Amino acid sequence: MSKNVIVLGTQWGDEGKGKIADLLAEDAKAIVRFQGGDNAGHTLIVNGEKTVLHLIPSGVLHEDKICYIANGVVVNPKALLSEIRGLEKRGLSVRDRIKVSKTATVITDYHIALDEASENALGDKKIGTTKKGITPAYVDKVARRAIKVSDLLNPERLDKKLHQLSKYYNFLLEEFYGLDPVDLTTVYEDLLKLSKEIEPMVCDVAKELREHKANGDKVLFEGAQGALLDIDHGTYPYVTSSNVISGGFSIGTGLPPKDIDRVIGITKAYTTRVGAGPFPTELKLGDETGDYIQDKGNEWGATTGRRRMCGWLDLVAIKFAVELNGVTDICLTKVDVLDELGHIKVCVAYKTAEGDLIDYFPSTEDEFVGLEPVYQTLEGWVENTAGLTQESELPEKLKAYIKYIEDYVGVDVTVISTGAERSHTIVKKPFFK
Ligand code: GDP
Ligand code: IMO
Ligand code: MG
Repeated sequence: MSKNVIVLGTQWGDEGKGKIADLLAEDAKAIVRFQGGDNAGHTLIVNGEKTVLHLIPSGVLHEDKICYIANGVVVNPKALLSEIRGLEKRGLSVRDRIKVSKTATVITDYHIALDEASENALGDKKIGTTKKGITPAYVDKVARRAIKVSDLLNPERLDKKLHQLSKYYNFLLEEFYGLDPVDLTTVYEDLLKLSKEIEPMVCDVAKELREHKANGDKVLFEGAQGALLDIDHGTYPYVTSSNVISGGFSIGTGLPPKDIDRVIGITKAYTTRVGAGPFPTELKLGDETGDYIQDKGNEWGATTGRRRMCGWLDLVAIKFAVELNGVTDICLTKVDVLDELGHIKVCVAYKTAEGDLIDYFPSTEDEFVGLEPVYQTLEGWVENTAGLTQESELPEKLKAYIKYIEDYVGVDVTVISTGAERSHTIVKKPFFK
């Protein structure tokens, strides 16, 4: 029986992880975020009501679930509390169920200012970050000078660490970027105030997860971003600053890799990307089909409101993500968005700038230059699938599309999502079994 299930993205994020995590959470005791921060935007729609979560795990709408923010996450206390207040305004009691790791890394106003400054200085080489301070916070962690959540509970140490950081960051902001410094006193006092509210939620998450394991509890691990944004294996440098793949599970939680029972690779039936970087199957702005998918799929960033660029499904990239993550099941989302298309293309290989055919996902920026997708064209189903909940209702041509994906990547599609609403899902194999 599966106890530890990971849900993660196989593309460039926004595959529908939040929707599926919310659905799976039903059968779990606890839901855990293990990397990333509030750069994530996970959308849940339950009985028509929309919730967008950035830091809080997507199990929070189930009132009996514990929501862990583990050590691998970078936590902006302001963002966390604003999310908590938003949920409380809707009558949800959450403070007693959200648990934040003592050893998670804190994002401060310095990190946000630096993220913004470094993006603006990059000109046409911008990464297109969410400007949430993710990279500078992870840099501090690796540089062994980060403010950890435990430091928030120790005003003296917080003061000392902030002093050091402020010297360094304000030097960079003023001398390197020519910008105004960030006021240390304001940052310190803000953090102290927020700390009081956060304190009751702080605990040793790794220890609690080991206790869940000892009790035989089912736990869901919710990835953020997507495999192609992984800091080591994604389209570097156009990536995020954490290990978003299943390997990040162990680093980000303290549980050993062998504890992973099932990895569900959330895969959109087409591809989107927000932010800069290689995107071989992109349908450029103005392309009729690309614009149609963007509009029908409502492809706007849940965190930044930016337009997501759209393109055809890239099976070479998905197969790469499946292998990287040890994906055991694919969950295919947003199939309903393709309902009206007579023909659907899938990328099955690439042609390099030198004219060679390759069937693997390149590992360096240079290799993407001049790379062209090689497509297989499949027949569209041209039938309504929106809201379907039974496998038997699926059009034959959609079944053929799914079979094509399964044959190419070598993993079964066991979940099909036909709408944003929680219930608009076909589950072929129970999740925690
Ligand atoms: P995440 O970051 O992976 O959680 O995905 P986002 O929430 O950023 O983006 C996915 C978007 O697609 C959200 O607006 C969801 O409400 C929506 N969505 C999820 N699954 C489906 C689906 O099967 N069909 C449609 N039409 N929308 C979906
Ligand atoms: P979810 O969890 C899509 C992208 C940004 C940018 C790059 C680096 O909702 O799928 P960062 O702020 O992390 O330094 O930005 O990563 N990015 C995402 N794109 N979905 C996300 O999260 C993303 N989180 C970061 O657009 O290209
Ligand atoms: Mg998202």
